Amino acid sequence: MRKVGIGVIGCGNISTKYLEAMKLFPVLELKAVADMRSSVAEQRAAQYGVPGLRVDQMLKRDDIELVVNLTVPLAHTDVSLAVLNAGKHVHSEKPLGIDTVEARKVMELAERKGLRVGCAPDTFLGGGHQTARKLIDDGAIGTPVAGSAFFGCPGHESWHPAPGFYYLRGGGPMLDMGPYYITDLVQLLGPVASVMGSTARPRSQRVVTSQPMNGALIPVEVDTHVAGTLEFESGAVVSITMSFDVPQHAHAPIEIYGDKASMLVPDPNKFGGEVKLAKPRAEWESVPLTHGHAEGEFRSIGVAELATALVTGRPHRASGALAFHVLEVMEAFGISAKEGRRVAIESRVERPAALPAGRAVGQID
Ligand SMILES: NC(=O)c1ccc[n+]([C@@H]2O[C@H](COP(=O)([O-])OP(=O)(O)OC[C@H]3O[C@@H](n4cnc5c(N)ncnc54)[C@H](O)[C@@H]3O)[C@@H](O)[C@H]2O)c1
Repeated sequence: MRKVGIGVIGCGNISTKYLEAMKLFPVLELKAVADMRSSVAEQRAAQYGVPGLRVDQMLKRDDIELVVNLTVPLAHTDVSLAVLNAGKHVHSEKPLGIDTVEARKVMELAERKGLRVGCAPDTFLGGGHQTARKLIDDGAIGTPVAGSAFFGCPGHESWHPAPGFYYLRGGGPMLDMGPYYITDLVQLLGPVASVMGSTARPRSQRVVTSQPMNGALIPVEVDTHVAGTLEFESGAVVSITMSFDVPQHAHAPIEIYGDKASMLVPDPNKFGGEVKLAKPRAEWESVPLTHGHAEGEFRSIGVAELATALVTGRPHRASGALAFHVLEVMEAFGISAKEGRRVAIESRVERPAALPAGRAVGQID
């Protein structure tokens, strides 16, 4: 299979995980990296043995077919639009845009240009989540009726070196962590029909405790506790909480309740983990994972999946359409909380196709 030339824009914190994992996928050929901070681009470039460029230089390169956008959320739309305008496919970090107005521009431009849009997260392609998907599709829990999704932490200002963006427009626990949970729920249960939400913002500024900004006060422009209900088109009802105001908790990341059994789905911010099933009033039983890409860091499997789809001409799974649907759902929590009503979701998306079982690392189709 031919290789696809890749450029990466955004050489910050998460970029090394992508650049390391890209080495595992033979379909990907890293050609160059870029950042608006030239020193950071040059550092990453030296680390990975490729040129470190300005963004405009990268977009002129003929050998780059697909650009991975790892900039901060507020820059995602502008960078993705520039990539598409340069005639290249784009895979963006999440969220696709800070709101659906912005994200729609990306989807419409791609449509006009006949280019592909991919978007994180790609963790749902990992072995833990594909095993859960297979169990649901095989009827192991019967018909899914309900469930829960829970993320809670005390905030990223304790570890991220530049945590300000998590509290600006485009940040917050729903836009930051919601994509992992809601994307996994959509691949498991199908599209969301409506949302009800409640939100809280207990602090207007937060104190950074990580280095090098230790002691700095950062402004909070977004709600930091979001709770509510997802009503799926299938009829399933899932309770959800995404919060940066939780000191500690003991919730499972995702639980799905069927009419025959319950299922524990592993952390959707990771690729593997343990899948467990329990019949009514019985103990939980661990189920061996049936799918590859489980234990390890495979952040860029979505890029490899998109590249494979480009080469073979099939639809890709971690798609812009899926990310747009998830973004509309996430946005609806704020609208519902503000207006005190249930919000209907207009976009619809098919569940991305399940991956085949038993694939070796690096192998997609
Ligand atoms: N850090 C994590 O653990 C993590 C995990 C998963 C996803 N993400 C997502 O990845 C993205 C990047 O996160 P990060 O932690 O690497 O942030 P970061 O701030 O460490 O890095 C972002 C980089 O993008 C560059 N940049 C910003 N705007 C740009 C523009 N217009 N053109 C070119 N370069 C630009 C910055 O100079 C910086 O080097 C975010 O969307 C974040 O939500 C981060």
